[in-house]
Amino acid sequence: MLSIAIDGPVGAGKSTVADEVARRLGILHLDTGAMYRAVGLAVTEAGIDPADEAAVTALCLEGKARVDVRYENGGQITLVNGQDVTCRIRSQEAGTAASMVSRYPEVRRMLVRRQRELAQEKPMLLDGRDIGPVVLPNASLKVYLTASPEARATRRLNQLAEKGETADFATILAEVNARDHQDMTRAVDPLRQAEDAVLVDSSEMDFEETVAAILRLAEAANG
Ligand code: DC
Repeated sequence: MLSIAIDGPVGAGKSTVADEVARRLGILHLDTGAMYRAVGLAVTEAGIDPADEAAVTALCLEGKARVDVRYENGGQITLVNGQDVTCRIRSQEAGTAASMVSRYPEVRRMLVRRQRELAQEKPMLLDGRDIGPVVLPNASLKVYLTASPEARATRRLNQLAEKGETADFATILAEVNARDHQDMTRAVDPLRQAEDAVLVDSSEMDFEETVAAILRLAEAANG
């Protein structure tokens, strides 16, 4: 079964690149970050502080933060306790809660198990932080998609400008570096490149070039 793992730091364009690569290959894309966001949302909606590991763990063990995904017209719908939360998980609050709850072993155990089940059912491309090293150690292809902190900060600045927001480059760069540090030094499943992952550095590539580079790797891996 074809399975593709794409990991990398924040702002490397993983989600959009992953979406397009999967679409062109005619396979499904599982955005695993959405699943951590869904747990974050379930936790805050239950009135639990995401910093309270014992309470978050208990909620998961009680089956009250059940995350699932389904697909409509090839697009991922993310559910928590049967409710569609696809739009609501994009909030800043859900993102912040996700980054806290993603540090807890019970949350990771629960989501990794579901991600593996999904990848066994159909050919899939998964993107996240731990896909190659942990979720799919036997993936057909593992990509570590990155770009220099400066390139990622510039892209973020451009995204904000498109929304009519202005920001200071030095501030954005500091945020990118802080997120990298947090993701790479956390105790459980830190972000790292799997030994057998192919490094794709998109600092000097545009979106189309990045998609094309990964498609070439996928075609080679698929024989
Ligand atoms: O990629 P994102 O911003 O949607 O991810 C949300 C949070 O979940 C982020 O803090 C990193 C975490 N995450 C993770 O720990 N493991 C994954 N496989 C995917 C995301």
